[in-house]
Amino acid sequence: MMKLPRRFFQPLAIGAPEPLRALPVRLERMIHFVPPHVEKMRAKVPDLVRQVDVVLGNLEDAIPVEAKLDARRGFIEMAKATEFGETGLWIRMNALNSPWGLDDLVEIVGAVGDKLDVVMVPKVEGAWDIHYVDQLLAQLEAKAGARKPILVHAILETAEGVKNVEEIAQASPRMHGMSLGPADLAASRGMKTTRVGGGHPDYRVLSDPGEGARGSAQQDLWHYTVARMVDACMASGIKAFYGPFGDFSDTEACEAQFRNAFLMGCAGAWTLHPSQIAIARRVFSPDPDEVAFARRILAAMPDGTGAVMIDGKMQDDATWKQAKVLADLADLVEA
Ligand code: GLV
Ligand code: MG
Repeated sequence: MMKLPRRFFQPLAIGAPEPLRALPVRLERMIHFVPPHVEKMRAKVPDLVRQVDVVLGNLEDAIPVEAKLDARRGFIEMAKATEFGETGLWIRMNALNSPWGLDDLVEIVGAVGDKLDVVMVPKVEGAWDIHYVDQLLAQLEAKAGARKPILVHAILETAEGVKNVEEIAQASPRMHGMSLGPADLAASRGMKTTRVGGGHPDYRVLSDPGEGARGSAQQDLWHYTVARMVDACMASGIKAFYGPFGDFSDTEACEAQFRNAFLMGCAGAWTLHPSQIAIARRVFSPDPDEVAFARRILAAMPDGTGAVMIDGKMQDDATWKQAKVLADLADLVEA
């Protein structure tokens, strides 16, 4: 699967990070975006740390050009001043072909690399983008004497990126996961929408006209890409995420989009507004009734093999594995 004859396993310098063998297992149900150039927002971070699984300092889109350097400085200040505990600390760096991408990594890893868990890289088009970030992080970690490797998360938001999704997922042992970026992806594909994620009233189940026609249900515009992304990620041992939902006033549609992603295998989603935090926590934590049923399956088949009936439903080795997915997630939530 993954090709690993890489420098990651031959540390460049004494004190360089240990080889990465497995992803840390942690809850990442919501990746909460903070604009670090805004002092009022930075001030909320110590509180946020207790409410979310991941705090992300956003340096890319939505940060005005004139605030790019303040956002970088603000992130460093916020990272130094805050005790994150079990809460993840990520950045979304600027694009690799932008005037800021390189300095984002050099300055942030140099100043607070030991606190940074994950670098989210936007507009990833192929494995080459990940290789570049991987090598650069290796240099910066070696220079800073880092004690742990910083992981890399790709945003899947260009048609080229979707075409190369499997290669991106396997591009480096640093790969943490991938998020769907529906806004940039829509633009890149020439989709005719101004929405950020979610459904569209014009994209519907097609049916023949006439009696019995049921043409009113919407289809999920993002189903194909989420499915491809989940398969690429799971086949590579990394995590898949749904990205942003832009209509903060429509909590129902946000929940529906998150729920589809959860059901299809995603571990979490981005939260851009405080109102979305509770939605993500609810959706990406397994349903207690389902967990109770899953635990009954595990208890009925202690070695995970054979076939039993529970409440009239057939259980076997495969449903044992399904149950294990839910029970393991519930264990993490309850820990
Ligand atoms: C996220 O970055 C998006 O483009 O949807
Ligand atoms: Mg984007």
